[in-house]
Amino acid sequence: MSDGFDRLWADLEPIGRHPGTGGYRRYTFGAADAELRSWFAGAAASRGLDVETDGNGNMWAWWGAPGPGAVVTGSHLDSVPDGGAFDGPLGVVSALEAVAELRRRGFAPARPVAVAVFAEEEGARFGVPCLGSRLLTGAIAPERAAALTDADGVTWAEAMAGAGFDPAGLGPDPERAGRIGAFVELHVEQGRALADTGDAVGAARSIWPHGRWRLEFTGRADHAGTTRLADRRDPMLPFARTVLAARSCAARNGAVATVGRVRVEPNGTNAVPSRVTAWLDARAPGAAELDAVVAGVTAEARAAAAEHGVRLAEAQESDSPLVEFSAELRDRVAAAAGGARGPVPVLPTGAGHDAGVLASVVPTAMLFVRNPTGVSHAPEEHAERADCHAGVTALADVLQDLAGE
Ligand code: GLV
Ligand code: MN
Ligand code: MN
Ligand code: MN
Repeated sequence: MSDGFDRLWADLEPIGRHPGTGGYRRYTFGAADAELRSWFAGAAASRGLDVETDGNGNMWAWWGAPGPGAVVTGSHLDSVPDGGAFDGPLGVVSALEAVAELRRRGFAPARPVAVAVFAEEEGARFGVPCLGSRLLTGAIAPERAAALTDADGVTWAEAMAGAGFDPAGLGPDPERAGRIGAFVELHVEQGRALADTGDAVGAARSIWPHGRWRLEFTGRADHAGTTRLADRRDPMLPFARTVLAARSCAARNGAVATVGRVRVEPNGTNAVPSRVTAWLDARAPGAAELDAVVAGVTAEARAAAAEHGVRLAEAQESDSPLVEFSAELRDRVAAAAGGARGPVPVLPTGAGHDAGVLASVVPTAMLFVRNPTGVSHAPEEHAERADCHAGVTALADVLQDLAGE
């Protein structure tokens, strides 16, 4: 293994890192995103790849002329607020380095090979995860995507134009999607399964169905010192009961549910709030369990809102159905990644990925690299350098297998 991975990683590491938290704030079409895009374009060009940005803000770097049957690998470079270094970037750096490794091996691909970087995978800025891959595949209408707003009310179309891209190109791109013969995304593991099995690399079996819901509790602002408890219409109270319900409904259904984002208005210590907006992220092994969690949480939210004289508005912001990766490709990838040691372990995950979106239109697989902390979406997310190198070798072996015929 050359030190190409280490050099790429060192160049990428400072971009968008918050000095106070040590976490990453890499938001689509923001200043860090522009730096990430030029880092990727430079890194790909210096490896002899041809770089293009599609009408949805996704980037592609081609080894060989773009065309049908391509073997595509890659991931994303955006982050959650104060996210870890590896979620997304590990897949992009590993993809670039796997291509370099194949060149060192003297491998001549029989099909085009490309490295892709998908836009707004985390949905951290505009609320809908995997927006770039959803747009590409037609899983979201371009009009809806264009009108999505960030926390400051800036639309996706405005932010895209501000970053120098033409939003007129938004929407399904069957020509580009049709070039993909197979997609393989390498990703840091976001749990402890590989740490427990003692393997550096694994493959994905499935992604739990999941979604995001916005719950807006509107009451009446008032004085914290003079308003009698009985006279209040305090939206914080039904909100609090909703958070507890998320925990208990998830536990009852073998699922997970999280309220990780809240907006309180007007957000004053000595005022009863006028409105609390909460975002629920719920995930479960199957659609029935997920439906049960969401039904239980919203029932409690409605009952608590009614008790407190608070109005409740509900909206589902995103839906990610269950993904079962192609068994044939998964087994082939697990075998190629494991080489003489035998197939790598195959795992389900509760995390969403562009691979999950692409799986509805092309054969798709994922490789996971061990994360010794098991932590993700936080600065403690980690992968040892030796495991990153093992991931690159596994990915190169997989690409060589898939692009060799
Ligand atoms: C994205 O990483 C998600 O699973 O939320
Ligand atoms: Mn993530
Ligand atoms: Mn990711
Ligand atoms: Mn993800």
